[in-house]
Amino acid sequence: MTDDDLDAAARAILTGNDRGGYTIPTAGLYPFQWNWDSAFAAWGFSTFDPDRAWTELETLFSGQWGTGMVPHIIFHRDDEGYFPGPDVWRTGTTPPSSGISQPPVAAILARMIHARAGGTERLRALYPRLLAWHRWWRDWRCVEGVACVTHPWESGRDNCPDWDPGMANVDGSQVGPYQRRDTGHVDASMRPGKEDYDRYLAMVQFGRACGWDQATILKDGPFLMADPAITFILIRANRDLAAIAGELGEDPAEPLAWAAELEDGLPGIWNDDLQAYCARDMQTGTFARSISSGAALGLLAGIENRAMEEKLGAIWDRVRYGIPSNDPASDSFDPRRYWRGPTWPVVNALIAVGLNSAGRTAEEHRLREETAALIRQGGFFEYFDPIDGTACGGDRFTWTAAIWLAWASPNAGRE
Ligand code: SER
Repeated sequence: MTDDDLDAAARAILTGNDRGGYTIPTAGLYPFQWNWDSAFAAWGFSTFDPDRAWTELETLFSGQWGTGMVPHIIFHRDDEGYFPGPDVWRTGTTPPSSGISQPPVAAILARMIHARAGGTERLRALYPRLLAWHRWWRDWRCVEGVACVTHPWESGRDNCPDWDPGMANVDGSQVGPYQRRDTGHVDASMRPGKEDYDRYLAMVQFGRACGWDQATILKDGPFLMADPAITFILIRANRDLAAIAGELGEDPAEPLAWAAELEDGLPGIWNDDLQAYCARDMQTGTFARSISSGAALGLLAGIENRAMEEKLGAIWDRVRYGIPSNDPASDSFDPRRYWRGPTWPVVNALIAVGLNSAGRTAEEHRLREETAALIRQGGFFEYFDPIDGTACGGDRFTWTAAIWLAWASPNAGRE
């Protein structure tokens, strides 16, 4: 296939996964609207259908809770092929949704969509909703100055070794019988294990039992870990929201202050032993034991740290394709198991956004070429083995198609 053919195929994936105002990540495995997937879908749509791009974000924010939270899944229609569905979450919202959030990339991408394709009035209407969501993150997920997650699914990087310390303390033995659906769609060796799922469900059951009361979840919940990735994403997203405010004639002071608070909190996730920013269990103080691509997202936030960059450079050189989700030198590295080793085109794209902003063109070019090579060889899969490039997870994947169109394709007009 030529790159032009790949552009056409990527557009066909986005339109094929369009369910009318929202885009599913991939048929079968993920049949609803997922939060950060959707923001990337909008970025992809902005390359050929700006109106549809804004609609994607508007539909995502139609699921926003009164508290400002934007849930990680919105169940617009029933689908028996996914577990856990709305009957398990029981959040009582309309439209039905999950009870946790997901990485707040929407402001970052909305700013780039606006720069590429215009739509000032659509952005103006979205602005207060973005601000309310970022305020929710600040009020309900920032602990000791850094962004935390109350469930590994909230990080978007589900089974990453980042969460191993917190997961070890979650009791999954009492969740009762259930049937997973994910392993009916993709090979079980590429997915989280049963013990992971037992614990994921125990956390959902805790949230459901307390009526998704955030104060209770923070104080007494089974899991609370600082997430370097979301901390860095929020720093960048708050700065981008401040820039959006400036363009719209709004006051940027609040998001700028939130970004500064997070930057001040960074020493709290600095792991001296690993010489890197790391996930940290806020209940026990324990750091994760290996460096993940969450640390590499420091580049998205423009956080430059020589010691950590040496580590990240060495990690990158250990693989052939992109930034791996886990350090190949770690004993927890598993090159095809979801977030325990594979490279994710979408994370590479976010890191590249930061490299681009910093004018680091040689590294941006390398990352883009390595990511493009994966897609040219393997197609639009969910994630890839970073060593031999094997395509993994779901096929015809929305966000991989989206980042191809908006960034990795030679025809992408880059911001
Ligand atoms: N990523 C999770 C899943 O695999 C939920 O967000 O279902």
